[in-house]
Amino acid sequence: MRDLGILTDAGVLCRGGKIAWVGRMSDWRPENAPDVAELDAAGKVVLPGFVDAHTHAMFAGSREAEFALRSGGATYQQIAEQGGGILNTMREVRKAEKKSLKRQTARYLNEMLRHGTTTVEIKSGYGLSPESEIKMLEAINELKNEEIIGVIPTFLGAHAVPPEFAGRAAEYVGLLVETMIPYAGKKRLAQFCDVFCEKGYFDVPGAERILAAGTAWGMKPKVHADELNAGGGAELAARAGAVSADHLEHVSPQGIAALRAAGVVAVLLPGVSFALGHGYAPARALIDGGVAVAVATDFNPGSCMSFSMPLMMTIACTQMHMTPEEALTAATLNGAAALGISASAGSIEPGKQADMLVADVPDYRFLAYHFGMNHISTTVKNGTILEL
Ligand code: NIG
Ligand code: FE
Repeated sequence: MRDLGILTDAGVLCRGGKIAWVGRMSDWRPENAPDVAELDAAGKVVLPGFVDAHTHAMFAGSREAEFALRSGGATYQQIAEQGGGILNTMREVRKAEKKSLKRQTARYLNEMLRHGTTTVEIKSGYGLSPESEIKMLEAINELKNEEIIGVIPTFLGAHAVPPEFAGRAAEYVGLLVETMIPYAGKKRLAQFCDVFCEKGYFDVPGAERILAAGTAWGMKPKVHADELNAGGGAELAARAGAVSADHLEHVSPQGIAALRAAGVVAVLLPGVSFALGHGYAPARALIDGGVAVAVATDFNPGSCMSFSMPLMMTIACTQMHMTPEEALTAATLNGAAALGISASAGSIEPGKQADMLVADVPDYRFLAYHFGMNHISTTVKNGTILEL
C-alpha cells in the first residue's frame, strides 16, 4: 500500500476510454498518437480517480436535527431507539417518488465527480419493504445507465428491521430471503448483497442466511461489521466469502486474522467515527496484519454527510495513523478491490479504464494535508475530460 509507483515528468495516453500508455515523457513518441487532444497538467499531480466503495448516496430528506441532538450529547443508538436514524430516512424514502430520489442522488453524483470520485457503490436500504427497496434499486440502476460516474448497486434490504416487523426480525429475514433477494437476483438489480450485522439490527445467524441467499442469487456478500459493538461480523464476512467487511471500528484480533486468511478487503469509514464522535477502526493493526484496507465515505444522511474522499484520507492519516501513501492506495486501488473491479479500475495502468484526476497540488501528500477545500481541477472519466 505504500508503493505508489510515482513517475515524474510523465504522460498518459488514453484511447477508446482506456489507458493505452503511461510513462516518462522522455520515452514518448508523438507519432504514436498524432491527433490526440492534450491536457497539460504541468506542475500538478495526476492520480487515479477515487473509488468510493461504500455509500448510501440515495436517500430523501436530511437529518440535521439528529446532528444537533448528538452535538448536545445524544448518541446515534439513542436516536435510533426513539424511531430516528435509519427509520427516519426510511419514512422519507417510502413517501418519495422514484424520479425525485433520482434527481437528488444525481446532484450528489455530479458533485462527487467534481471532488474526484469516478466510481461509487450505492446501497439500497432505506425502503425496507419489497416495493420501496425495488424502487430504490431501480432508481440506482437507472442512474448507473444515465450518469457519467461509474455506479455499482448493492442490495441492503437488511439495513434495519422495519417498524411493521418490530420484534419479529426473523420474519423480516424470511421476507428478505424468500421474496426480496430472489427478485433482486432475477432482475439483476444488484451486484452485492449487504447486511447490517449489529445488536438491534441483524444478528449473526440472520445475517448468515441473508448472505447465503444473496450468494445463491448471484450477489456477492458484503457486511456492515463490528461498527457499534464487537459482534463477530468480521468472522462472519470471512466465513461467508465476502468481498469486503466494512466499518470494523470494534473488530477483534481474531476478526483481523479471519479477514486476512479469507482475503476479505477491510473497508474503513473514518468519516463515520469523525461525525459520530466514536472511536476509529484499528487501521494499523489491519494493515500490519496483512489485510487489504480500503477507505470509503459511507456517505449517508445519518452517520456521515460527506462524499469527500480527500477528507476521508485526511482523517485516515490524522486519526488512524495511515500514511498518505496508504490512504491514497486505500481510496483508489483497494476501493476497486472492495468492489471486485481492481483489474479494470483504481490505478493508472495500460488496459484499465481511463479514470483520472488532475489535482492542483505540488505533491500528492498535499491533498490530505490541506483539507477542507477541493483540489481536483479536472476529472477524466473513461478517457473523457469532464466539464463540471
Ligand atoms: O453505515 N451502519 C448502518 N448504516 C449507515 C448509517 C445509515 C443511517 O444512519 O442512515 C452506516 O453508518
Ligand atoms: Fe454504511
